[in-house]
Amino acid sequence: MVQTIYENVWSALPFPSFLVDKTGGISDANGAAETLITTSQRHMKGKNISRFFGANSIVLATITQAAKDFGSVTQYNVDVAILEQPVMTCNVYVSFLSADMEQLLVVVQPTGVAQKMSRSLTNLSAARSVTAMAAMLAHEIRNPLAGISGAAQLLAMNASPQDLELAEMIGTEAKRIGQLVDRVEHFGDQRPMAAKPVNIHDVLDRAKRSAQAGFGVGVEFSVDFDPSLPDAAGDPDQLLQVFQNLLKNAAEAVDPARGTIKIRTSYNSSVKLAMQGAKTQNLPLQIEIIDNGRGIPASLITEIFEPFVSSKSNGTGLGLSLVSKIIAGHGGLVECSSTEGRTVFCVRLPVWNGK
Ligand SMILES: Nc1ncnc2c1ncn2[C@@H]1O[C@H](COP(=O)(O)OP(=O)(O)O)[C@@H](O)[C@H]1O
Ligand SMILES: [Mg+2]
Repeated sequence: MVQTIYENVWSALPFPSFLVDKTGGISDANGAAETLITTSQRHMKGKNISRFFGANSIVLATITQAAKDFGSVTQYNVDVAILEQPVMTCNVYVSFLSADMEQLLVVVQPTGVAQKMSRSLTNLSAARSVTAMAAMLAHEIRNPLAGISGAAQLLAMNASPQDLELAEMIGTEAKRIGQLVDRVEHFGDQRPMAAKPVNIHDVLDRAKRSAQAGFGVGVEFSVDFDPSLPDAAGDPDQLLQVFQNLLKNAAEAVDPARGTIKIRTSYNSSVKLAMQGAKTQNLPLQIEIIDNGRGIPASLITEIFEPFVSSKSNGTGLGLSLVSKIIAGHGGLVECSSTEGRTVFCVRLPVWNGK
């Protein structure tokens, strides 16, 4: 009886946990550990924990230390690499169980949402520093640019066929600079957000339709909407921009012949964001954009929300930075997880509460 209760507790624990000997040999692992490592318990038993966390990992070092002290050691916010997955920030807890058993309990808990939150706040300050430059750029570049385009048009009017091509090239390139200035200028938009009730499905429909007509031609779009979703509190134009940016990235990441993008909404009452002054904000509205594209390289994933980070030859690296800025302005949260063939951007927003 006692045995089965402990077994049930062990498998129900939401924290990835392992039983190991002093050298890291695994004798047991619970369900949460299976999920974290994406390996079955049967497969882990008898193997060394370094097989899954790496020989030089902080997990093994923590085990060695706890074994030496016959005590317990906790490490907060350390980087843990699990097999081929991107590095995750985790709290690692190791405790010696008893001297005669020579067994240790290892708990590896990704800090998840808390970590992502702080990242979104860092992005906000990065986005702010871009704001001042954006305003300057928009002013100083627009006028000379108009001059360049005008001059190129005049040249084109009586140019030889050879020169015409060059004059047109000046025109198209000037137009590209203009578009870049437009996009950068969004950062200079300092107007406070006027929040009102937003039907998020209307916004998503509009974003999807414009994607299908433009950059997403040929990509298969599908929706999975929770019809009972309440209104979000926000600015519909800004939110449209967010989902257009996310859909554009997804469309650019997928194979044109077999790309699929799924837009899913759901209600998740368990997500709370701790705010300054010990207040918490509920973020139950969950909107996910899921694509089957190439995924985000592990080396890039911690930086994608920073301005000017791009892996594209003609990318500005401003799309996700703007997403992060707008969502932070809504008091929300945006998270990303990615493997090859499946990238998920998850936006969490507060519900409209009447003011
Ligand atoms: N859905 C996605 N799939 C794969 N990579 C993505 C996806 N979304 C964003 N990225 C990566 O993040 C980078 C930054 O995106 P973004 O800020 O929109 O800038 P840009 O699209 O101009 O490159 C992209 O260059 C790309 O490498
Ligand atoms: Mg983009």
